[in-house]
Amino acid sequence: MKIGVVGLGYVGLVTAAVLANHDNEVIGIDVSTERVNKLNSNNLPIFEPELGNRIESAGSRLKFSTDYSDLAECSGVFICVPTPNNEAGIDLSFVVAASKEVSKVVPKSELIIKSTVTPGTARHISNLTGMNVTSNPEFTREGSAVYDTEHPDRIVVGGNDPQVCKDVWKFTNAPTIITTNENAELIKYASNAFLATKITFINQMADLCEKIPGADVKIVAHGIGLDHRIGKEFLKPGLGYGGSCFPKDTIALNSYANSKDVKLDIIDSVIRYNSDRINQLVEKIIRLAGDLNDRNICVLGLSFKDNTDDLRESRSIALIENLSKRGAKIFAYDPIVKQYPGIVQCNSSEECIMKCSIVITATEWEEFRSIDPVLFKDKMVFDLRRILSIKPDDITMGVGIGKD
Ligand SMILES: NC(=O)c1ccc[n+]([C@@H]2O[C@H](COP(=O)([O-])OP(=O)(O)OC[C@H]3O[C@@H](n4cnc5c(N)ncnc54)[C@H](O)[C@@H]3O)[C@@H](O)[C@H]2O)c1
Repeated sequence: MKIGVVGLGYVGLVTAAVLANHDNEVIGIDVSTERVNKLNSNNLPIFEPELGNRIESAGSRLKFSTDYSDLAECSGVFICVPTPNNEAGIDLSFVVAASKEVSKVVPKSELIIKSTVTPGTARHISNLTGMNVTSNPEFTREGSAVYDTEHPDRIVVGGNDPQVCKDVWKFTNAPTIITTNENAELIKYASNAFLATKITFINQMADLCEKIPGADVKIVAHGIGLDHRIGKEFLKPGLGYGGSCFPKDTIALNSYANSKDVKLDIIDSVIRYNSDRINQLVEKIIRLAGDLNDRNICVLGLSFKDNTDDLRESRSIALIENLSKRGAKIFAYDPIVKQYPGIVQCNSSEECIMKCSIVITATEWEEFRSIDPVLFKDKMVFDLRRILSIKPDDITMGVGIGKD
C-alpha cells in the first residue's frame, strides 16, 4: 500500500519508518525544508533509539519531501503535525492546514489523524475537506517510540470507514478498538490525564513521606504498584510531569471540558500542583542547603526524560531557570543534549560534580545510576529522580533521602 505521513517529528518520523518496514511504500511530507534535507542526506533530525536502523532498513520504500503532490496515489495519509495550546486550549491550525493540503491531492484517500486532538475535530476536518477521516491516536513514549509503535498495548481506531488504518496496523497483532471518532479522540486525552494524575499522586505521597520519620516513598510506591489494579508504572516520585504531551494535553482537556460546562476538579488540581512542583522543590533545597546565590550547582540531565533529546517542557530546564533566578551558577551534563543557552555544559557527570558543592539529578538517564558514590563525598545531593546508588553516609543531606 502507498501511505503518506504528514509531519516528520517524533511521531510522524517513527510512524513512517515503521510502516515502511511492513510492506508499505511511504512518503513523508514536512513543511521544514531543513528537516527534509537532513533526512534526504541520511541525517536524523531527532534522537530516538532504533529510528536510524528502521530508516536504513526501509531503503527506497521510504521517501521524504516538502511537496504535497508526492502524496498522489496514497490510499491513506497520516496527519502527525503539532497541536499546541492556545488561549482556547488547543490550536488546531496545523491540523487544518495540513488536512486541506492533503485533500487537494488525494481527496478520495483515508485521512488518518494521529495528532492529539479534542473530540469533534475529525468530524470538523471531514466537513472542511469532504474526506473520510479516521482517528488513530498515538500512545508511544519518546525514548522507546520505535518499540512502542511495533508492540503497542492497543490500537485505537475511530471513524465510519477506517479500512486503511485497520490494515496497516494488523502486523502488530495488538487488541484493536474500533469505535467512533469522538471515543478515539477522548481515549487519548483520558489516558494522558490519568497518567499525569498518577504522577501527581505519588509526588504528593512523597511530600507526605518526607514528613514521616521511617517512611520512604520508594518503598511505598513499590508496595502500591504490586497491586495489579494499580500497576507499578508512573509511580516514580520526581520533578513532576513534563514533555511535549502531558502538560499541553491536560490543559487542552480541561479547557475542552470547561467549554462543555463540565468541571474536571481532579485534572484542575493536578495541573496546579504540577506547575508549582519545581518551585516547591527549590524552596526545599534552600531550606536544606541555604541561600543559593553564587553557589555552583551541578544538574544531571537536561532532556525531559531519558533516551530522548526533547527539551519541550523539560522539568530540568524549568528547575535550572528557577535556580538561576536565585543567583545559582549552573553546570550541567546530559548524555545527548550538548547545547543549551546560558548553561555551562560539562563533558561528563564526574566533571560536573567536581565543579560544584550541590548536585541535583533532574533526568533519569541510566548512566547516572552507576556514578561512583565517592564523588558525592562532602557534596549536598538532591536526588530528585531517586536513581543514585548512595547511602546517607556518602552525602551531606538530600531531598528524598534526608528529612525536611
Ligand atoms: N511526541 C510524542 O511523544 C507524542 C506522543 C503521542 C502523541 N503526540 C502528538 O502527535 C502530534 C505531533 O507531535 P510531535 O511530537 O511528533 O511533533 P513535532 O513538533 O516533533 O513534529 C511535528 C512536525 O510537523 C511539521 N509540520 C507542521 N505543520 C506542518 C504542515 N502543515 N505540513 C507538514 N508538516 C508540518 C513540523 O515541521 C514538524 O517537523 C501532536 O499532536 C502530539 O500531541 C506526540
